Amino acid sequence: MPTALVIAAAGSGTRLGAGMPKALAPLADGRALLAHCLDAVAAARDAGTSLDAVVVLVPADPDGGARVRAVVAEGRARLGAPVACVPGGAERADSVRSGLAAADRALGRGVPGPRHVLVHDAARALTPPAVFAAVQEALDAGAVAAIPGVPLTDTVKEVVLADAGAAPGERTLRLTVRGTPPRGGLRAVQTPQGFDLDALLAAHEAVRADPARDAAALTDDAMVMEAAGHAVAVVPGHAEAFKVTTPLDLDLAAALLARRPA
Ligand code: C5P
Repeated sequence: MPTALVIAAAGSGTRLGAGMPKALAPLADGRALLAHCLDAVAAARDAGTSLDAVVVLVPADPDGGARVRAVVAEGRARLGAPVACVPGGAERADSVRSGLAAADRALGRGVPGPRHVLVHDAARALTPPAVFAAVQEALDAGAVAAIPGVPLTDTVKEVVLADAGAAPGERTLRLTVRGTPPRGGLRAVQTPQGFDLDALLAAHEAVRADPARDAAALTDDAMVMEAAGHAVAVVPGHAEAFKVTTPLDLDLAAALLARRPA
């Protein structure tokens, strides 16, 4: 099945506090997060994941964009598929929509049978090949959407503001619990998330056209498919597919890199 990989690497990295786009943040070995992500994609290909095109969403600002493109230029030969860089948007969902349009162009139309897309966060830079393989296998078996998920170790509470008039800084003190979903029925979901490309293009277009939808609230692509009424299959994720978001995550990434063979 023709398959494109879209890598979302256009985020600002505010929560990481590295003073640069997150994709450029160096891990313990000094190499950028995105360079490690491209290594992980190359490893997945070596292990059997098939990719016909790669699209990398890069920051829209000229300086950050140029620096991220340079990381892609250095790593593209390892990917073994044509690679395009496309400027991202204000929110992740905006970036992914641009990436899907580029994936659509890269794969071309008129091929009989479904076209697949894997949407991946650059920030999940150490994702093992087995996660890519599990998602692709589910798509090949006929799923319209397949996402990796892991069981939760924490108990999760749904919370509400106890006092809507509280000052923003006081909010955490004024939260109260509304309910506790049973933990066994929850999964923390990761990327790559795999989809029928045409179904995901249509689902993103439908949410974009809905004025009631807030792009910032679309934190993954599966929820765009859920909104369109599609079934979403869940396949095993992996603890090492965690998203590098905070400085503590950089420490975890350093520990993992130290453990992996060079
Ligand atoms: O912000 P969040 O942690 O959800 O970002 C997940 C991924 O989406 C990151 O790899 C980030 O670079 C990417 N992103 C993007 N465009 C944005 C915001 C985030 O490509 N506007």
